Amino acid sequence: MLKGRHLIDPMDLSVEELERLFELAGKIIEDPKKYAESCKGYLLATCFYEPSTRTRLSFEAAMLRLGGQVLGFSSSDSSSASKGESVKDTIQTIGCYADICAMRHPKEGAPKVAALASPIPVINAGDGGHQHPTQTLTDLLTIRSLKGRLSNFTVGLCGDLKFGRTVHSLIKALARYDGIKFVLISPEELKIPDYIREEILIKNNIEFEEIERLEHTIGTLDILYMTRVQRERFFNEADYIRLKDSYILDKSKMKMAKEDLAVLHPLPRVNEISVEIDNDPRAVYFKQAKYGMFVRMALIIKLLGVEEC
Ligand code: NCD
Repeated sequence: MLKGRHLIDPMDLSVEELERLFELAGKIIEDPKKYAESCKGYLLATCFYEPSTRTRLSFEAAMLRLGGQVLGFSSSDSSSASKGESVKDTIQTIGCYADICAMRHPKEGAPKVAALASPIPVINAGDGGHQHPTQTLTDLLTIRSLKGRLSNFTVGLCGDLKFGRTVHSLIKALARYDGIKFVLISPEELKIPDYIREEILIKNNIEFEEIERLEHTIGTLDILYMTRVQRERFFNEADYIRLKDSYILDKSKMKMAKEDLAVLHPLPRVNEISVEIDNDPRAVYFKQAKYGMFVRMALIIKLLGVEEC
């Protein structure tokens, strides 16, 4: 039962619970009208202290498509955070008005602090450079729907693996499935944090390699997860400028890739995927954005514990 629980870290859901969630998402995709009133009378609060397009709007679209309603703020300037209010006080207040809350915050751990004080389920919609569990649900549902499974893949993760929270959450979640090999492609300065390498990959005996050149490995990959260099997390603009165009996935690189490669990206993209490959059937990042709404519909239903058809 997920009713009343928080989702702060991808490991908060077991593989079995994920399976049930994806099954529900699949049913919603097949017959969305059937769920059009599932959350009637419920309110979702979106508390976003950092910019967002897909995450916030897909949460809101999800709740509206379930017949519920939404309220919230989309920047810290427009909330009392700008007056110095703590996350703990804010969530205690939001809990008086809404039934469930999705929170994005630039500080790592802020949604967890909120969850500890919250009378309603809190969903981490991205905390600093740490975790982004609902993007991972989106990524897993995309892979499962398009490839039919979540095991036995060589998965390349490319770009800013240091600050990219989507990468950290995806590695944690995928490491639980059989036969996953990770190829971690990044400049030296943007390698995955030590806690992911040691606590997740080495400790669990997961096969992985760390390399710098995408063209050296693209032909071996079943899934390529591209990411943006996270400008907002750099201390120094000069370092960002130097690293921002480390990777550009274009037609010439796609020629070296497998016929059935799937290219994912949490979006927004900057330069790391050339628009010239948008029409390549292997480029699935806009489909992925759509799966994000369906998986959030399923998640809201589960956390609210409303009747499932
Ligand atoms: C990502 C994020 O916010 O971490 N975007 C998203 O939620 N789809 C990736 C990014 O901003 O680069």
